[in-house]
Amino acid sequence: MRYILRKPLITYVIGILIVVLLTGAVISRFTSELIILFAVLLVQFVIVILMLLHIFEKYMKPIRKATKTVDELVKGNYRARIHHASNGSVGELSNKINILARNLSELTIQEDIHEKQLVTVIDNTESGLVLIDEKGYIHLVNRKFISLFGNTPKDYKGHLYYDVLDNEKIHHLVQQTFLYEENVKESFTQIINFDKKYIQIIGAPIFNEKKMLKGAVLVFYDITELKKLELTRKDFVANVSHELKTPITSIKGFAETLLDNKENNPEVVEKFHQIIYDESDRLQILIQDLLTLSKLEKDEFELQVTDFHIGKVIEEVIAVIHQQAEQKGLNLTVDVEKDIKVKADREQMKQVLFNLLANAVSYTPGKGEITLMIEKTDSNMHIAVSDSGIGIGEEAIPRLFERFYRVDKARSRNTGGTGLGLAIVKHIVEVHEGKIKVDSELDKGSTFHVYIPTNLG
Ligand SMILES: Nc1ncnc2c1ncn2[C@@H]1O[C@H](COP(=O)(O)OP(=O)(O)OP(=O)(O)O)[C@@H](O)[C@H]1O
Ligand SMILES: [Mg+2]
Repeated sequence: MRYILRKPLITYVIGILIVVLLTGAVISRFTSELIILFAVLLVQFVIVILMLLHIFEKYMKPIRKATKTVDELVKGNYRARIHHASNGSVGELSNKINILARNLSELTIQEDIHEKQLVTVIDNTESGLVLIDEKGYIHLVNRKFISLFGNTPKDYKGHLYYDVLDNEKIHHLVQQTFLYEENVKESFTQIINFDKKYIQIIGAPIFNEKKMLKGAVLVFYDITELKKLELTRKDFVANVSHELKTPITSIKGFAETLLDNKENNPEVVEKFHQIIYDESDRLQILIQDLLTLSKLEKDEFELQVTDFHIGKVIEEVIAVIHQQAEQKGLNLTVDVEKDIKVKADREQMKQVLFNLLANAVSYTPGKGEITLMIEKTDSNMHIAVSDSGIGIGEEAIPRLFERFYRVDKARSRNTGGTGLGLAIVKHIVEVHEGKIKVDSELDKGSTFHVYIPTNLG
């Protein structure tokens, strides 16, 4: 019975049949002609059935289809549509349901796009992100966070932050963020893939429209590079102070002795004067080198690029170096075609040649060989300064261009070196967009190769 009731058409037909039969019973009282009675009832039955079928086709069927479509929309299938051509108010209803379905489908597509864009942005930010709700459960971690702390998103999402983040400072930061409901900053070190990383976290509370705390976002910045720079700067200041202290102490000490007239021996006085002069000379060179370096490091530093013959520059440098090499009994060979024309900063190139040749002279014992070779190819100018000197150990080569680095501190200081010469060379080469390379073997000698591009702007 319930099944029959659920099918409206059958229900109506049965209803009409009962009505027709009852009408038949009433009519049969007035006529005894069975045939007429039957014919009247049959015609009546057929007419009503036809009307019913028409109503069913026109109204019931589209409404049932509309209900089915709305059911699909409720389930989230926004691609469901009514394919039933009808007019009148039922047709209008179908049309509106289709428009609604289309709008919903467009909305979900847009929502999808927005979500994907958001996920892309979150995953590609250079900072680690973690979203925690007010109960302390993690809802989101991004790719950078995973690269910093390891594991997979599944190991964090849905867990309490203090169960999966094994760091007291992070726990403290989250508590402070929730407690004070404002941004909190913290930093710590973490060993990641055997590397020590400096991490800075910022905890920011999240509020809903009613200004109630709903959770917190933790942003993790990898500040290792920044820390390294800070350390280099601190080291540099410490080194400069140390380098300045030595000559100044010496100058002050000898000057004091002279002022106190404690020394009357003219020879000793002369010697003290010479020391004061040499030390102030050293100071002047050091300050000059520091100024050169800081000038090269300035953002607004501009190369004075000109076309010039390298031969002329070599002559100027060799005039000074030749004397020093001769004093040490070194053999200096220059293997350069005189008319090589280059496009570079003339003064800076002179400095490069001078520093490299001065090193070759300083670190090559008597009777050694020094060679300067320059060749020009289509793409660059290649400068090679070779010596048969003390050479440089493999472990020292990567540090050679650091400011104040000296392989053998005592020996280098004796040569009057400040430890800035190669740092200056490297800077000059870099501002020329060139490259520098060292081949060296202990007790055999070294060759410094410099490559400067020929198409310099
Ligand atoms: N040709 C070389 N052979 C062996 N060691 C070298 C050579 N050139 C440089 N070095 C090593 O590299 C260190 C750094 O050289 P750099 O020119 O920067 O400083 P420096 O020569 O000590 O002082 P200066 O600033 O006066 O040049 C030197 O102290 C020396 O130990
Ligand atoms: Mg030097």
